Amino acid sequence: MNLLFYPCYIISLISCIFIQCNSENESAKKEPPPPKAITVPFPEAMYIQNGCISCHGPEGNGRGTRTHLLKNARIPNFQDVTTYVYGSSKENISKSIQNGIPGTFMKSYSHMRKNEIDALADYIQKMQKK
Ligand code: HEC
Repeated sequence: MNLLFYPCYIISLISCIFIQCNSENESAKKEPPPPKAITVPFPEAMYIQNGCISCHGPEGNGRGTRTHLLKNARIPNFQDVTTYVYGSSKENISKSIQNGIPGTFMKSYSHMRKNEIDALADYIQKMQKK
């Protein structure tokens, strides 16, 4: 009698181990580790979050995702200092951001903090090729 049950016992033990292994694999597949956080430097984050990038483009050359919608607009190339109408110094860039350029698509960003505008002006100046 005992001899008859012995193989059954072994089989059930093996299948138990097998099922357990499988279920461990399943849960590993269902829950991948969370992606690593990406940290964007503050000036770049300002340029992206405030939408500058959509008109002025990621490289500042006026090729953004919204640029084609700006009908008849002059759009500066931040890389080329000769294309700035209101000045390419940090002070002048800050003024353009703070006050905007009335009557154009360039709105005033006077709601921004001084350190945010400063960071943007620095970021734009770094695009300039001298
Ligand atoms: C809706 C599109 C749009 C957005 C968004 C935008 N700009 Fe502009 N920007 C323009 C246009 C168009 C001009 C040129 C205006 C003109 O003189 O005709 C301009 C001009 C400027 C100038 C002056 C360049 C010069 O000729 O002296 C600076 C600096 C500038 N933008 C920075 C920024 C920054 C920084 C942001 C984000 C905080 C921003 N812009 C957001 C469209 C945009």
